[in-house]
Amino acid sequence: MKLSFSSAYFASNFPVFLKSSVVTSLYRPVSSSSQSCLPTCLKPQVPLFLKPPIYSTALSDLKSWHDWAKSLATSIGSTFVESDNGPDSSLLCRELKWLMEDAVEDQSVLTQMGNVNNQTVIMRADVEELYSLWKQRIEDRRPFQYLVGCEHWKDLVLSVQDGVLIPRPETEHIIDLVADVLSKNEGLRQGVWADLGTGSGAIAIAIGRMLGKCGRVIATDFSPVAVAVAAYNVQRYCLQDVVQLKQGSWFEPLKNVEGKLAGLVSNPPYIPSKDITGLQAEVGRHEPRVALDGGINGMDDLFHLCNGAASMLKPGGFFAFETNGEQQCKHLVDYLENHTSGSFCGLKIEPDFAGIQRFVTGFRQ
Ligand SMILES: C[S@@+](CC[C@H](N)C(=O)[O-])C[C@H]1O[C@@H](n2cnc3c(N)ncnc32)[C@H](O)[C@@H]1O
Repeated sequence: MKLSFSSAYFASNFPVFLKSSVVTSLYRPVSSSSQSCLPTCLKPQVPLFLKPPIYSTALSDLKSWHDWAKSLATSIGSTFVESDNGPDSSLLCRELKWLMEDAVEDQSVLTQMGNVNNQTVIMRADVEELYSLWKQRIEDRRPFQYLVGCEHWKDLVLSVQDGVLIPRPETEHIIDLVADVLSKNEGLRQGVWADLGTGSGAIAIAIGRMLGKCGRVIATDFSPVAVAVAAYNVQRYCLQDVVQLKQGSWFEPLKNVEGKLAGLVSNPPYIPSKDITGLQAEVGRHEPRVALDGGINGMDDLFHLCNGAASMLKPGGFFAFETNGEQQCKHLVDYLENHTSGSFCGLKIEPDFAGIQRFVTGFRQ
């Protein structure tokens, strides 16, 4: 079976680094009390833009770092594009600007970089750390989102760190699909939803905000780091009463809601194992393999989710699964139609924003 590659993960297309919506106006203030009582002992990293501005540096030193970082970025040219379709120097220069915006407390300083004087700049990271971060970006190809500790996703700014998948733009459409279903079936709004393999908590948080006080989302992940980071993000958005985090494998933490779920969504690992080595360095070297590798044909977890959905959803319950593309969508629909004893109806394949057939949705009979 030949599967098409994910626009999200394969080296030929990694839209997360092409997204231009990283604007500071989307950053949200967070109350410090929201960071307590995490369900695990792992302490998530605080994103750079939320760190206290406790460092100061001379503007001339900041400018020296910026000049060095820019010349490094420029020297890359199209080398990364040619090796694995990584970022080119113009994208790296944009990232450098975003890094500056996160690191500097007073943004007006950024317009004064040309006229160096003795001014002191208040910073959220010291200049030595900025040198180290930019070396990691260029030399190790560490994803920009891990450097600054966050990613913009829909209207959320989510904390991310090593060990947690950076949420991708195409996954945002799952939320539109859920919104559409909720608008047509108010009953589902009051039920229990599950986001399996929640990663940063992106999907669970966005659904939780749509359900409001009526419903509840259980978000699970096998990775304790993901659970801790998702819990941190849930607390940042004050959704602790709506989104509950549980650590465990797929349906295992959901035994007490068997047959009761109003909705089930997941963006599981779906890259065929053999394709992992061909991924863009930012992805293959740095993002967690457990979040990417879907087994020999990439569909191990998708099939497992289909089987579980039959017993976990209540009659009329909705599901949406993200896949690698058209071939996986077709295989999944075929499986749901012919190997789940007629458990489902209203099966559909839905495209992502780029027109790639990406999602399979349907309802429990
Ligand atoms: C492709 S990532 C999706 C993350 C997040 N939902 C998103 O869309 O950004 C897949 C997630 O599934 C989790 N995962 C992998 N195997 C799992 C398992 N057996 N049980 C639960 N979660 C698992 C990974 O840790 C990862 O967070």
